[in-house]
Amino acid sequence: MKLPRQFFRPLAIGAPEPYRELPARLERMIHFVPPHLEKVTAKVPDLAKQVDIVLGNLEDAIPADAKEAARKGFIGMARNTDFGATGLWTRINCLNSPWMLDDITEIVAEVGNKLDVVMLPKVEGAWDIHYLDQLLAQLEAKHGVTKPILIHAILETAEGVKNVGEIASASPRMHGMSLGPADLAASRAMKTTRVGGGHPEYKVVADPVGDAPRAAAQQDLWHYTIARMVDACAANGIKAFYGPFGDFADGLACETQFRNAFLLGCAGAWTLHPSQIDIAKRVFSPDPQEVAFAKKILAAMPDGSGAVMIDGKMQDDATWKQAKVMVDLARFVAEKDPAFAPVYGF
Ligand code: GLV
Ligand code: MG
Repeated sequence: MKLPRQFFRPLAIGAPEPYRELPARLERMIHFVPPHLEKVTAKVPDLAKQVDIVLGNLEDAIPADAKEAARKGFIGMARNTDFGATGLWTRINCLNSPWMLDDITEIVAEVGNKLDVVMLPKVEGAWDIHYLDQLLAQLEAKHGVTKPILIHAILETAEGVKNVGEIASASPRMHGMSLGPADLAASRAMKTTRVGGGHPEYKVVADPVGDAPRAAAQQDLWHYTIARMVDACAANGIKAFYGPFGDFADGLACETQFRNAFLLGCAGAWTLHPSQIDIAKRVFSPDPQEVAFAKKILAAMPDGSGAVMIDGKMQDDATWKQAKVMVDLARFVAEKDPAFAPVYGF
């Protein structure tokens, strides 16, 4: 067990100091692009204006014979795009694959100063984070990277779920975690063939009353895992995300899954198809009425201390902090999407 005073030390001489707090950023959607396809990377400069995070995917869904093209494509799109306040992430191949080492060494060498977060798939325990943490520090030092590159784990194996707390607290480099429902379903031997969402047979049925038809309601397959992930992340000051929703034609089910995750505490979700971007914006942007109320709290308590009554409800230092989170988030949203500025009254 590492001593508390060692926890925030850089892991290589010359590597940047780890963050004590996550940088405040708008991260409603992590938008996946397949960087081996030139027609897709050509659109990245425009895409970067619409989404909060652009992620170059190198792992699953990229064919084995396109892995190197995807890595090169990612480096090219990172070099050639001004991302502004939009995050630049990559999902590297998993630790036991033949591609991961070249993914990370080439990407940090070429575009380490532009990369915000590395998404690591199939994380099983803290040991996986420790390995990448050390390697990133060595590469940051070697290539003069000036701000720490963060790690985002995908929670998509039964062992990972068992170890979720240790993963969340493994390093100050941890940005957060995403639920990976497709791989997790496989790892658990769930009897489904879907990428996220519910299943019509996972339901509860009402007790019989005579011969009347019995009401049934589908249940949420992911509730338990998302709740465990949110607790592990919130307890460690990092962010939780819902991952992919594979049925692009079913916008309502996607929005429902995203909203369940949002209500349980997730900050955002993955978007794999352009139609999912607006869904994520709708779900993960703060509610205008909540923002209006939060602004009243901030106005009534300029220095954030004391207690006041607003619309019959008691406000104190703790609600002031919640209000500040809400108004800051709304301001980020309005900066990104000017259409939201009048909605939030900025
Ligand atoms: C994502 O990677 C998943 O497996 O759902
Ligand atoms: Mg997966």
